Amino acid sequence: MHIDVLSLFPEMFTGVLNTSILKRAQERGAVTIAVTDFREYADNKHKNVDDYPFGGGAGMLLKPEPLFAAVEALKQASGKKSHVVLMSPQGAPYTHQKAVELGTHEHLILLCGHYEGFDERIREYLVDEEVSIGDYVLTGGELASMVVVDSVVRLLPEVIEHDSHDDDSFAHGLLEYPQYTRPADFNGMKVPDVLLSGHHLNIEKWRREQALIRTAMKRPDLLLNVELSDEEKQFIEP
Ligand code: ADE
Repeated sequence: MHIDVLSLFPEMFTGVLNTSILKRAQERGAVTIAVTDFREYADNKHKNVDDYPFGGGAGMLLKPEPLFAAVEALKQASGKKSHVVLMSPQGAPYTHQKAVELGTHEHLILLCGHYEGFDERIREYLVDEEVSIGDYVLTGGELASMVVVDSVVRLLPEVIEHDSHDDDSFAHGLLEYPQYTRPADFNGMKVPDVLLSGHHLNIEKWRREQALIRTAMKRPDLLLNVELSDEEKQFIEP
């Protein structure tokens, strides 16, 4: 998979892309990631990428020309089927399912805005979808695009052992069950007996119950989209 990010502040990505799992994923060849400053594609003498809104109003908007030119160049260069995503607070809420789905594209192009917004033609004609990482406004799409890159790449084959995704929070629509490591007794705070029992079926059952309890307490909204057995329904709504 190849990911291109278009941003006016490529330096923001240096640490994130060159650390830990994202670094290893690139070293292993699971993904290639490039960040391009789309100011390079500005066609005017002063390399302006923004301009005043028609009709008046506060702030500046990103002009269409540099982003259209940059996306076209990246599509040509990759020679793959590209999927263009606009990072924006107006987008669809970003979820685990969306991370899985974005990971199926062979070429992703993530567009990061800055300033007050975009010329609407970018939204209408250039992008395949618009994604928001939450109901708040960031100073730009950079942090949002890093969230997308991180969550997509960790799911790619060979990046993290596959088994560990099975227990991810959200992987089955539930939050992850509680986990413990040594010591079994830390200053009187004990690990639940069942986990020390070596009885795999009981451990599985306990984990599923804990995931259900946890989800019911912290994120009851998630339960609306999970298939529960009659016994499990009884369990969380006695
Ligand atoms: N750009 C600014 N705010 C954003 C958000 N919440 N999600 C995605 N992109 C953004």
